[in-house]
Amino acid sequence: MAHVLGARPNFVKAAPVIAALSGPRGSASGAGREQRVIHTGQHYDERMSEVFFRELGLPEPDVNLGVGSGSHAAQTAAIMVALEKEFIERSPELVMVYGDVNSTIAAALVAAKLHIPVAHVEAGLRSFDMTMPEEVNRRLVDQLSNLLFVTSPEAVGHLAAEGVVGRSHGGGRKDLDRVHFVGNPMIDTLLAHLDSFDTEAVRAAHGLPERYIVATLHRPANVDDPQVAAGLVKRLHEIADLADVVMPVHPRGRRVLTEAGLDDHPRVTLLEPLGYVDFVAAVRGAAAAVTDSGGVQEETTILGVPCLTVRPNTERPITITHGTNRLVTADGLVSAVEQALASSGDEREVPPLWDGKAGPRIARIAEGWLDG
Ligand code: UD1
Ligand code: UDP
Repeated sequence: MAHVLGARPNFVKAAPVIAALSGPRGSASGAGREQRVIHTGQHYDERMSEVFFRELGLPEPDVNLGVGSGSHAAQTAAIMVALEKEFIERSPELVMVYGDVNSTIAAALVAAKLHIPVAHVEAGLRSFDMTMPEEVNRRLVDQLSNLLFVTSPEAVGHLAAEGVVGRSHGGGRKDLDRVHFVGNPMIDTLLAHLDSFDTEAVRAAHGLPERYIVATLHRPANVDDPQVAAGLVKRLHEIADLADVVMPVHPRGRRVLTEAGLDDHPRVTLLEPLGYVDFVAAVRGAAAAVTDSGGVQEETTILGVPCLTVRPNTERPITITHGTNRLVTADGLVSAVEQALASSGDEREVPPLWDGKAGPRIARIAEGWLDG
């Protein structure tokens, strides 16, 4: 089986799946199947890649395709060309893809054309916003996948509406076996490391104040256009007048946000991207999170930290209905932060099956499907 990983969120999602597939097979005895880990090289900085392999116990990639950055077409195409060679040489029995990044669609498309079955972890999420590259990737990957692992119940309905449930996909497999609601492997990773998230250690290591808001921004809609980014910087400065702002800066927004003067405020602390353990520890200790990240919406739901998502929509509505998430505009951000700071902690419910066992469920189903 081949796992195709490329970007930071892939690593967090894949770790529990690969671990479960590498252990004893299902309920039967004996060794797990061979797990080949292919890193496309979409993310390559030590802080965006290696640190996750180290901290999450991921096996070293068997191969790194080293594609690096580029336009959507250039990056996706480079991954496809390299993966085609890899898949032809190795003929994996199944290709496992994660989330919605360019590495995910590239791998699904190459595998499907080579008649290699595809399994998609985190299928069926929809923002219904086709201006997001991730939405394009998700929709297409789901159409190409033979096995679809769903993190949230409404995703099953999205797949059904797109004709994914109950449609023949060749290979003689039963159609109804394609979609499986298994829970959230990103939350498996979070729960597995709960004891390691030491907010005091992160505070000491990075000189963080007692009370702070953690911020992350990297969506093209927020950080690519200098004018939009400058508007957000203005709001972050207003927030910093209320409480310190700590921001591990994603490389995508670094230049534009810095040029817009993000660190020209005494209560804004900019950090390099943090490793997983330090990052989640910082979120856990925060009074609130301001973000446009998909993963952070889910992590704050479990950690009970108020989350203000600077986006017009989310593909993760369960983080609003069950968790602490709220969608905000740039203009509404400061008052939303004020409310979050005044709140005594939001009521929340753990979404169904976000119980730390998604990886083993995926492993059991994938093995059964391959054996079937
Ligand atoms: C990608 C995903 C996005 C995901 C994000 C997670 C796509 C289309 N987007 O966005 O869905 O939320 O990862 O973090 O796949 N760069 C570096 N070092 C790195 C990697 C990137 O400096 O290790 C810089 C480069 O200038 C690059 C830019 O970041 O051009 C964007 O990287 P890219 O992988 O294309 O997209 P992300 O914005 O990271
Ligand atoms: N993350 C991290 N360090 C950081 C920022 C994020 O370890 O400085 C982790 C965090 O667990 C998050 C995951 O990386 O959920 C993916 O984050 P990102 O926001 O890059 O991607 P998205 O979830 O938006 O696709």
